[in-house]
Amino acid sequence: MTFEQWTRSVLERVESALEHYLPTEATEPAKLHEAMRYAVLGGGKRVRPLLCHAAGELTGARAECLDAAAAALEMIHVYSLVHDDMPCMDDDALRRGKPTVHVKYDEATALLVGDALQSQAFVALTSDVLAPAQQASLVRELALASGSIGMCGGQAIDLASVGHTLTRTQLETMHRMKTGALLRAAVRMGALAGETPDADAMRSLDAYSAAVGLAFQVVDDILDVTTDSATLGKTAGKDAKDGKPTYVSIIGLEASRALAAQLRSDAHAAIAPFGARAQRLAELADLVVNRVS
Ligand code: IPE
Ligand code: IPE
Ligand code: MG
Ligand code: MG
Ligand code: MG
Repeated sequence: MTFEQWTRSVLERVESALEHYLPTEATEPAKLHEAMRYAVLGGGKRVRPLLCHAAGELTGARAECLDAAAAALEMIHVYSLVHDDMPCMDDDALRRGKPTVHVKYDEATALLVGDALQSQAFVALTSDVLAPAQQASLVRELALASGSIGMCGGQAIDLASVGHTLTRTQLETMHRMKTGALLRAAVRMGALAGETPDADAMRSLDAYSAAVGLAFQVVDDILDVTTDSATLGKTAGKDAKDGKPTYVSIIGLEASRALAAQLRSDAHAAIAPFGARAQRLAELADLVVNRVS
């Protein structure tokens, strides 16, 4: 199977899993459920679900288990986007080529969409396709990655840093928390949904996801200055306008590109011990670094 075929088949599974784990539009309160579905369905690159499936294939996880974990990861990610776009955070009007949730609906709805998606993620993760012990370990992974020592913590640093210059170390910490933590969780959760990897294998996967996780946000910073809003599906040039500390603002565009390339080869090196079994993870590292949106 080519990478494109593999991606397409995983994306189809993930779309139906999201459809399955989200309440229908007819469920009361209908406006909230409609807005949750508007935010989640039919858009986004689904990088976290892809990483989860790729890591799970490596440890022999069942596809239905990976679907539940992938849906949970994507719901947490979308919640973070909905809140990230609100006026109290980045104040963005465009996401995935459509008006953001607070623009299309209203701010209170956007707040609740995020809250409810966060809860729904844990509903998906505790569905009985996963054994109870797996549920517990995956819940813990996702909660840690998305909370104050992970994504939310990174977002707090991001907001507190506007208009300040960060050192490169502070910037790296912020990026690893706000974006890297959830990508790392995607890999770990996929792996843990199968045969628990031994300590060496887990270390390799963590090294891989540390590189891919940081690369992802470095590339996000690059695309903000190099790509137009139509291609990105979100407002380009927003970071500089808002005085956000980014890799581009701190080390420049060329050094950021070099760093992304370096992180890509670090990711490849980390999974070399798995050989051909890690082919999808290797291809996903390439996708993260070479993407145009
Ligand atoms: C954007 O994430 C926000 C970051 C964490 C950098 P993605 O680039 O994964 O957004 P979608 O899911 O494809 O829309
Ligand atoms: C967002 O980072 C990270 C999270 C949502 C956790 P950005 O603010 O850079 O994401 P975009 O550029 O708006 O997608
Ligand atoms: Mg932001
Ligand atoms: Mg933003
Ligand atoms: Mg950005």
